[in-house]
Amino acid sequence: MKAVVVYESLWGNTAAIARAIAEGIGSGTQALPTDQATAIVAGGVDLIVAGAPILAFSLPTEAIRNAQAANPGKSPIPADLSHPSMRAWLDVLPAGKGHSASFETRIWWSPGSSAKAIESRLVKLGYSPVAKPQRFLVKGSYGPLGPGELEKAQRWGAELARLMF
Ligand SMILES: Cc1cc2nc3c(=O)[nH]c(=O)nc-3n(C[C@H](O)[C@H](O)[C@H](O)COP(=O)(O)O)c2cc1C
Repeated sequence: MKAVVVYESLWGNTAAIARAIAEGIGSGTQALPTDQATAIVAGGVDLIVAGAPILAFSLPTEAIRNAQAANPGKSPIPADLSHPSMRAWLDVLPAGKGHSASFETRIWWSPGSSAKAIESRLVKLGYSPVAKPQRFLVKGSYGPLGPGELEKAQRWGAELARLMF
């Protein structure tokens, strides 16, 4: 089973969760930012796992990403905007017949869901979900991840691998 974990991450929380999911899936699965995942997906994968943070109650828009670039002093570390957004990546993802799973990082009380938005776009492209959208919690606006979230991500990755067999 060939899988890839694709992520958008401005401050590193989603990237860390993506790496833990990839470890849980095993079999050399890589966690890659959007643009770096394009080639591996084009080569054919059985499972695309895609994740992004919720920003302003939504899958990050270009407007909210630009606002981070315009106000670099607001965050404890500058936002990494060197990779395209998940939204932009999904806009050019070719239709396919593989499987998918989606996740988000978020604070606990927020409305909105990046994972559900990703899932619905993947379904429209033909990738059928193997699991419900998953959420991973951070403690504050910029992180860090909540206790046990990396372990939960690893367990979820292992569960996805089981569901694929
Ligand atoms: C400008 C900004 C807006 C945010 N808006 C939301 C939100 O609406 N809902 C939510 O659950 N979390 C929100 N968060 C928290 C982020 O989703 C959380 O920190 C996420 O893990 C960041 O992911 P990253 O480190 O991979 O970029 C926001 C954080 C920032 C900095």
